[in-house]
Amino acid sequence: MRIADLPRPRALPVVGHLLQMRRQAAHLAVEAWSREVGPLFRVSLGGRPFVGVADPDLIRQVLNQRPDTFRRSSNFDIVFGDLDVESVFAAEGSQWRRLRRLWLRALNSHQIAGFAQGVGDITERLRARWQAAANRDEAVDIQGDLTRYTVDVTTLMTFGFDGNTLQQRGAVIQDDMHHVFPMISRRLTAPFPYWHYIRLPRDRQLDRAMVTVTRFVDARIAEARERIDAHPELQDKPSNLLEAFLVARDEDGSLLSDAEIRGNTLTALLAGEDTTANTLAWSLHLLSHNPAAQERLQAEADAVVGRARCARSMAQLATLPWCDAVMAESLRLKPVAPMFFKTALKDTRIGDLDIPRGTHLILDMRHGADQDARYDQPAQFDPARWLADDAPRFEAASPMPFGAGPRICPGRNLAQLEVRSVLSMIGRSFELHTVAPEDSVTERFGFTMAPAGLRLKLTARAQAGYSTRAIGADS
Ligand code: HEM
Repeated sequence: MRIADLPRPRALPVVGHLLQMRRQAAHLAVEAWSREVGPLFRVSLGGRPFVGVADPDLIRQVLNQRPDTFRRSSNFDIVFGDLDVESVFAAEGSQWRRLRRLWLRALNSHQIAGFAQGVGDITERLRARWQAAANRDEAVDIQGDLTRYTVDVTTLMTFGFDGNTLQQRGAVIQDDMHHVFPMISRRLTAPFPYWHYIRLPRDRQLDRAMVTVTRFVDARIAEARERIDAHPELQDKPSNLLEAFLVARDEDGSLLSDAEIRGNTLTALLAGEDTTANTLAWSLHLLSHNPAAQERLQAEADAVVGRARCARSMAQLATLPWCDAVMAESLRLKPVAPMFFKTALKDTRIGDLDIPRGTHLILDMRHGADQDARYDQPAQFDPARWLADDAPRFEAASPMPFGAGPRICPGRNLAQLEVRSVLSMIGRSFELHTVAPEDSVTERFGFTMAPAGLRLKLTARAQAGYSTRAIGADS
């Protein structure tokens, strides 16, 4: 089959389908097209033809054929290149292979186990913040607080630096990063690099933010170099991602360039914060409308962590199947990366469709999850479906919230650690109550998909019965 044979959703003359991709809801347009004409279609965006793919098997074929046959959209080169950020996220070919090896080493299971204690401490701060709100009978800005939480975890893991934005206005670079992330998203989805021709106030603000961020990261790099000189054992056992990047040698013995070290530490902040915060926020939203799922969360947390406040040891964190099922089900219905853009590097095929070199693709990563006939009552939030005897392994099943193939998210185990820690804390400590109808919370797409308008009330569980031992001794 040829691309020209594919169906085309309704469009306006000249502008094609672009105007239907409203900012902050672009993914909904892609989903509407596949509902209108089927899981393979063609659209025109700003005069450029795109093939839309909403079939999970075909999506997997595309993702598995990287980096040689498909690449990320070339917008990544322009956007990250303009910011002088050299990162695994935007790299292709041999540079990607090199950086990817390094990331896998830096986020191996041993390294992640080393983060568990720090994650537990930050989860305890989140609990204290929410306990204070519960005492005041106030609704909580879930999204804002969870972003502070993941900022603190990610900063600690990346730099070994406790930003503590949950308890104080951090001296870290967070305000600047909150400008950088949406701007990267805005530029990635811009129909052309307008900032090459005209610099809007927000582009100038981005330049200023990048100067501050770069200065901050360079200062951390200098400190880490001094630390490694003073403690050569860190060469073999780096204590954070930055140290891991600094000591990493390629097969030929070469070290990463400063631009690569800077770019990849920034990538850790970029890739690790909103993704995990949004996944947690969607999980709490869905739980708040499902009392039975909350009860099961509480029962699991009580059974696994006893009288402590959250799971802290790796042994506890690894035995929370209901927390894992809640995360899997939230990601099935609310994948925080709902669409990908890819480009073919050579002539190829997906299914029986010929894909000439240079073809641009949009992948609909939710692919009609709420109507997917593979699932019983697919629109229902039902974590138990992931625990049934015949349940497919999550990564082999049709949702691909972490992507698939060689570029699958290398941070997923860390994300899972954070989610388990927070959900076990919620289960032990709180009941979640909605303060607005379920449909008043909407999907807002930036670099990731976040719940807009989410506020919840938390009340303390009467029967929490904490241990009176010091928190640090809980595990
Ligand atoms: C629930 C949380 C998270 C979700 C849903 C998520 C999702 C994703 C997705 C969909 C991709 C693209 C995969 C592909 O192209 O096939 C990705 C890539 C990536 N993620 Fe995550 N992610 C999460 C957390 C994290 C964390 C905590 C980190 C690390 C601090 C991280 C680091 C990365 C990196 C470096 C890449 C690029 C990998 C490459 O291109 O080889 N992610 N993630």
